[in-house]
Amino acid sequence: MKNFSGSNAILTGASKGLGVHIARALAKEGVNLVLTARSAEALEQVRDEMLSYDVKAEVIPADLTETDQFDSLTAEAEQKLGPIDILVNNAGIEISKPYEEFSPDDIQMMVTLNLTVPMLLTRSLLPGMLERNRGHIVNISSLAGKTGFPTQTPYAASKAGLIMFTHSLRVELADTQLGASVVCPGFVSDDGMYARVEERAGPAPKILKPTTPEKVAAGVVH
Ligand SMILES: NC(=O)c1ccc[n+]([C@@H]2O[C@H](COP(=O)([O-])OP(=O)(O)OC[C@H]3O[C@@H](n4cnc5c(N)ncnc54)[C@H](OP(=O)(O)O)[C@@H]3O)[C@@H](O)[C@H]2O)c1
Repeated sequence: MKNFSGSNAILTGASKGLGVHIARALAKEGVNLVLTARSAEALEQVRDEMLSYDVKAEVIPADLTETDQFDSLTAEAEQKLGPIDILVNNAGIEISKPYEEFSPDDIQMMVTLNLTVPMLLTRSLLPGMLERNRGHIVNISSLAGKTGFPTQTPYAASKAGLIMFTHSLRVELADTQLGASVVCPGFVSDDGMYARVEERAGPAPKILKPTTPEKVAAGVVH
C-alpha cells in the first residue's frame, strides 16, 4: 500500500509505549485507528490525542490473551470504522529470567500474546482484505527474534516465530496487492518496555544500535 490516507487500521498495544508513537505516526499519515489494549482509560487518552490529527479513532479494550473471539473483535472494529486495511500487531510482553524459573503459565501467556494473537487477528482480517485485494499486516517482532538472548528464551522464541510467520505470509500473498512486514527493533530508549528497566538493566550496548520510539514508528509507516 503506497497511499494510505483515509485507510482504516487496527493497532494492538496502543495504550502505552511504542504503540502510542505508532498511533501518532499513522494518524499523521491520515490513517483512521481502532486502538486496543487492556487499559481502557489509557486508550481513551490516546484516542483523544489522535482525534486532534483529524482522523477517526475508536477504542476497543480487550485482554487479547483471554479471548478467543477474534472475529467478534475485528467485526466490532469494522462496524466502527469500515473495512480494515491495516493491522499492526504491536502488543507484546517480555519477561526475563533463567529459563528453568519460568512457570508454564508465563510461557503460554508470552507465546499467546506475542505470536498466536497476531496470527489469529491476521486470520480474521485476511478474507476481507483478499476480497478487496487491499491490505497490509505489520508485525512488531524484536532483535531478540533474530539472535539468542539469555534470560529471554520464551520471548525470543515467540518473536522468532513472528518473523517466520510474516515471511511465510508475505510469500503466500506475493500474487496479490496485500503485503506483510515485520519490524525488529533492538533496544528502544525513551519509552516502552526496555526504557522502563533501562536504569536497572544498564545502557544498551552501542553495537546493538539502540533506537527511539519515533524511529520504530517511522519503520511501521514505511
Ligand atoms: N521497547 C523495546 O525496547 C522493544 C524492543 C523490541 C521489540 N519490542 C516490541 O514492541 C512491542 C511494543 O513494546 P513496548 O515497548 O511498547 O511495550 P509496553 O510499553 O510494555 O507496551 C505493551 C503494549 O501491549 C499491551 N498489552 C500487554 N498485554 C496485553 C494483553 N494481555 N492484551 C492486550 N494488550 C496487551 C499493553 O497495554 P495494556 O497493559 O493496557 O494491556 C501495551 O499497550 C512489543 O511487541 C515488544 O515486544 C519492544
